[in-house]
Formats: sequence, C-alpha cells, structure tokens
Amino acid sequence: MKIAISGKGGVGKTTVTAIWGRAFAEGGHPVFLIDADPDANLAAAIGVPKDKLPQPLVALKDLIKERTGADPDKLGQYFRINPTVADLPDAYSVAVGGMRLLVLGGIRGGGQGCACPQGTFLKAMMRHLMLERQEVLLVDMEAGLEFLGRASVMGTDALVIVVEPGRRSLETAEAIAQMGRDIGIKRFGAVLNKVTDAGQVETIRASLPKGVEFLGSMPYSPALQKADLEGRAVFGVDARIEAALADAKRKLESLIAADAAAKV
Ligand SMILES: Nc1ncnc2c1ncn2[C@@H]1O[C@H](COP(=O)(O)OP(=O)(O)O)[C@@H](O)[C@H]1O
Ligand SMILES: [Mg+2]
Repeated sequence: MKIAISGKGGVGKTTVTAIWGRAFAEGGHPVFLIDADPDANLAAAIGVPKDKLPQPLVALKDLIKERTGADPDKLGQYFRINPTVADLPDAYSVAVGGMRLLVLGGIRGGGQGCACPQGTFLKAMMRHLMLERQEVLLVDMEAGLEFLGRASVMGTDALVIVVEPGRRSLETAEAIAQMGRDIGIKRFGAVLNKVTDAGQVETIRASLPKGVEFLGSMPYSPALQKADLEGRAVFGVDARIEAALADAKRKLESLIAADAAAKV
C-alpha cells in the first residue's frame, strides 16, 4: 500500500504519517516512511534522537552529481533524466521503531517540476519508491505534489489531505486535490485535525473538495502540542488521537481494497 499525505503547513501531516506508520508496523507490515517535505521533521516525530537525524538525500550534492551527471549548483548542464536510485532507499534510510525512514527533503521554492538535477533526482526517487518497493509506504509531503509525477501515481493508492477547521486549509486542500487529479490520482481522503467543537466536523465535511472522502477527525490535543514542545515522539501521547487515526486508517484501507477489487 502506498499513501501520500499532504495539506497546508502545520495541519498535522507529520503527526498522521508517524502514527499511521506505527499502526501499520504493529499490524505486522514492513513500513517505509518517506519524508518529502522541505520542512523535514518526520524523524523528530517518530523519536529519532537529534544526533542521529538522517541528512535529506536532496542535500547530498556529490551523490546527486554522481547519479545525474550534473553539478546541482551549476546551471545549464546536461543531466540524466533517469538516474539510478534503486540502491538508495536501503543505503540511506534509518531503522526506527519497526519502520524505516528515508528523508528525501524537498526543494524550497523549487516550483512546479524544477528542471534541475535535484528535481529530476527526487522525481526518479519517488517513482522508484512508489512503483518498485513492496513495503507499506507513507509519504509525508508538503502542500505541493511536484515530485509525485504521472509515473509515480500509478503506484499510489491514495492521497490523503489533512485539514483543520479553517477556510485556508480547505483552500489548500482544494488546490492539492486539483493537482492530484491533474496527475491522475484516483482516490482522495481527508482527515480533519485539531477539532475544538463538534460542530466543526459537519461544517468541514460538507466543504471538502469534490471526490475527497472524509476519513475521520481528531480532537485538538494539548498533550500532542506539549510533546512537540518537549521534542518527544508522537506515540503514546494521546489515546484519543491514536483511536481516531486507527478508525481513519481502517476506512482508508477499505476504500483502497474496494478500488483494487473494482480494477480486476
Ligand atoms: N490534534 C492536535 N492537537 C494539537 N496540536 C496538534 C495536533 N496535531 C498536531 N499538532 C501540533 O501541530 C504542530 C504541527 O503538526 P505537524 O504534524 O508537524 O504538521 P505538518 O506536518 O502538517 O506541518 C505540531 O506542533 C503538532 O504537535
Ligand atoms: Mg510536517
């Protein structure tokens, strides 16, 4: 199963990715977590100590140069558009709590489909991960989907958009859903986070972009916020959050299973 998680900054993408990753691992699945946000902090959310934080692949300039044949710092060079990347997930990921974590990083302000060595490298990496890896793959993405190209989409089972009770996160959700449809994603889900009033659930549910299935909601959690402030992992912090995400995960899995059944 391959799931991409997106949404406006700060809505809870990393929290959802981490808790779902742990839940899949506990269910006996091999799990690969991919941090594809330029604001990479999935490692901290799953409790990787500060001195063991993996370097984002996109920052490894020598590696990118070796694989693409071009120096990421120079403009106007020819580079391979199909770099070899298959050996990298195992070589550069770290094992944590029954999962593996690969930090891709992103290109800040890279713009849609940056035609630079890094952009090509990340796109090739994503395509490889989505099409060739056999693990459950959860990709923590920023609000843009630029490295999820048409090819990777063929391996993507669902795009989950995290929203919070607010217009702006819904507008971002709308833009993400549109980008997702444009590249060919078929299954969309939404998780509502940081609910402070039960009435918000129906309001948001009714305002989700067309074709985006509501998967569930999570309450605002002072305990989660405190854990982040203290630099602790998100696991075992708030049972309400974990229960809500377990429900949402079940719902998503049954939608994906139904999609797979409809395909044969
Ligand atoms: N339900 C919640 N209640 C309170 N704080 C939350 C909740 N979910 C996430 N947070 C906090 O919000 C901040 C952003 O969450 P994070 O998962 O890093 O979002 P994103 O990856 O979308 O930027 C973090 O400090 C996190 O602890
Ligand atoms: Mg994040």
